[in-house]
Amino acid sequence: MTDMSTLKDWRFDTDGEGIAWATFDREGESQNSLGRRPLEELAAIVEAVEIGVREKRISGLVFQSGKAKGFIVGADVREFEQLTDERTVIENIRNANALLDKIEKLPVPVVCTIHGFCLGGGLELALACHWRIATRDEGTRVGFPEVKLGIFPGFNGTARSIRQAGAMAAMPMMLAGSMVRASAAKGMGLIDELVAGPSNLRWAARRAVLKKKRSPVAGGLKTLASKWPARGMLANKMRTETAKKAREAHYPAPFRLIDLFEKHGGNLDRMKVAETEMFAPLMVSDTSRNLRRVFKLSEMLKAQAPKGLGWTPQRVHVIGAGVMGADIAGWCVASGMEVTLQDLSPEAIAKGIAAQAKLFGRKFKTKALRDAAKARLIADPTGAGIGRADVVIEAIVERVEVKQKLFLDIETKLKPGAVMATNTSSIMIEDIAKPLVDPGRLIGIHFFNPVAQMPLVEVIRGAGSRDEDVKKGCAFVAAIDKFPLITKSAPGFVVNRVLGPYMMAAMERMEKGESKEKIDEAARVFGMPMGPIELADTVGLDVCAHVGKILGKSAEGSKLQKLVDTKKLGKKSGEGFYVWKDGKTVKGDATFSKAELETLGRALVEPLIAEAEKVRDEKIVESADLVDAGVIFGTGFAPFRGGPLHYKANEKTSNVTPLRPAQAAE
Ligand code: NAI
Repeated sequence: MTDMSTLKDWRFDTDGEGIAWATFDREGESQNSLGRRPLEELAAIVEAVEIGVREKRISGLVFQSGKAKGFIVGADVREFEQLTDERTVIENIRNANALLDKIEKLPVPVVCTIHGFCLGGGLELALACHWRIATRDEGTRVGFPEVKLGIFPGFNGTARSIRQAGAMAAMPMMLAGSMVRASAAKGMGLIDELVAGPSNLRWAARRAVLKKKRSPVAGGLKTLASKWPARGMLANKMRTETAKKAREAHYPAPFRLIDLFEKHGGNLDRMKVAETEMFAPLMVSDTSRNLRRVFKLSEMLKAQAPKGLGWTPQRVHVIGAGVMGADIAGWCVASGMEVTLQDLSPEAIAKGIAAQAKLFGRKFKTKALRDAAKARLIADPTGAGIGRADVVIEAIVERVEVKQKLFLDIETKLKPGAVMATNTSSIMIEDIAKPLVDPGRLIGIHFFNPVAQMPLVEVIRGAGSRDEDVKKGCAFVAAIDKFPLITKSAPGFVVNRVLGPYMMAAMERMEKGESKEKIDEAARVFGMPMGPIELADTVGLDVCAHVGKILGKSAEGSKLQKLVDTKKLGKKSGEGFYVWKDGKTVKGDATFSKAELETLGRALVEPLIAEAEKVRDEKIVESADLVDAGVIFGTGFAPFRGGPLHYKANEKTSNVTPLRPAQAAE
């Protein structure tokens, strides 16, 4: 038997009442994840408990976390890369599942206590226990995020969550990869007991062991959905709903999960066995490998924000309450900050503030929280907030001399150590900074439209920007829950630069006679969230023409220019390349063959990839991976393809008709 004092990732001790406490506290890590060593040590713990039970020394087992917050965030994604073939995956999974079965079969009560995240493999371990206690804390969340990594739960979480919550509740949660609050999880049957805070967990767990608590499995109506023919009907409904959000060819995991449920959901023991068999091919697929890469890229972006700066931004001042400024202000408020909003026009401020009600409604569940958010968004027509702000963001008209004049004034009012930033999308930071007394202080913090939906924010380092201010800019972006990407001050930065040639080339194809519907559908078939023509209409054709000019591509004589001249600017004016009705394009009903759409889709992204290569070669960002990260999170570039550079390097069979250089970049 393993000597329990040699454990590295767990602590194990038995108290005077015979309750064994297994405390998960992964060595050298801020969060607990289930990797090879933690599972081996868990196996040793279970063996020790079995012996202790036989010898009547142990009367119960409690799992708890040794971290201040967070039970288990899931399986250790870093170790997934070692699982390269289906056989190895199946072997590993069978071992883990045999261990969870052993825990479930222990003849003494097994209790799991949860504070903070309990996700994926962590929830699967919890579901193998007999009783689950969670804190009511806002940060306590349970869920299965596996589909986001191109897989589904593999430690028998599919069958056990259905057993506890019923298929109607468990399946949608797994299909969406969503995380639910502790109270909702209790309503579903995934959690058995709620306590106020972490200090109550130990006592509640002790009581549950002494009272031999056992979670009831779902009964009555909750089991109906698993019976035939209801199961078949539910599966079909879930297929239709899932297909609205993701294409099966791009994201097969949720569809395989529905198949698994449809075939085996009536017999949970069989479902457990089939889960492993259907899981393995997903795990070794390119899709899952690429989605895991995207996860790592997101971590890489988060790491652009340095830790331990000793600077916590709390007050933000935004100047310009137009399309961007108002939403930037709203987003900062929704992230807990206090924001003063300035504009030349008091009407623009009032309109900008009123427009945030929708975001606050989505973000905050209670009226008290919504009211508090409203109180944190302050109209400030005279700019009184500048001197108190930790971060000042300018989002006024895109004219260098107007911005320069504004910053000359801001510079005199700013408090020491505060960040001074522009949201410009096309002017060089050093040009705006030129007349300043301290030009090194200005950086760019470039948001994308719509602010609430776009996860990326480019943090622009001007030629003279100070390193410390760039770091603070990143820390601020991370503090409002966005991904920062440090980029050099160069036309289009990263995102607009790669989008420009892609959209221009698509427009040229259209001018040469290709149907816009076909172009847009081909881009979606490739995996883009929206086609380039519809995207141009959504961004605004005036903005597109302007960005094109910045990138050295005049729209003169083109259909784009004609539309701009006649004020047909796209979605915002009701007509651009498309006619727009109720926020949607009116499309023709022509259909196209899959093969021609696939070929066209690959050709459409060629100019984007070529530009991404230039961005990499010119070192606009630190590394090739960061180019991929920026393009995925800034443009929505098909995540399952792992990024433009990764896709190009790994393309196996290319049936792309390359664009002639004259077409790609004139
Ligand atoms: P907008 O035209 O919607 O709003 C600009 C606002 O600034 C107006 O309300 C105007 O009254 C106000 N303003 C002008 N001069 C001012 C001054 N001296 N002091 C105070 N307020 C003043 O413009 P939008 O689209 O919000 O763009 C703002 C900035 O953000 C620009 O630099 C633009 O390049 C950049 N940007 C725009 C994006 C977009 O999709 N619209 C995306 C990313 C950046």
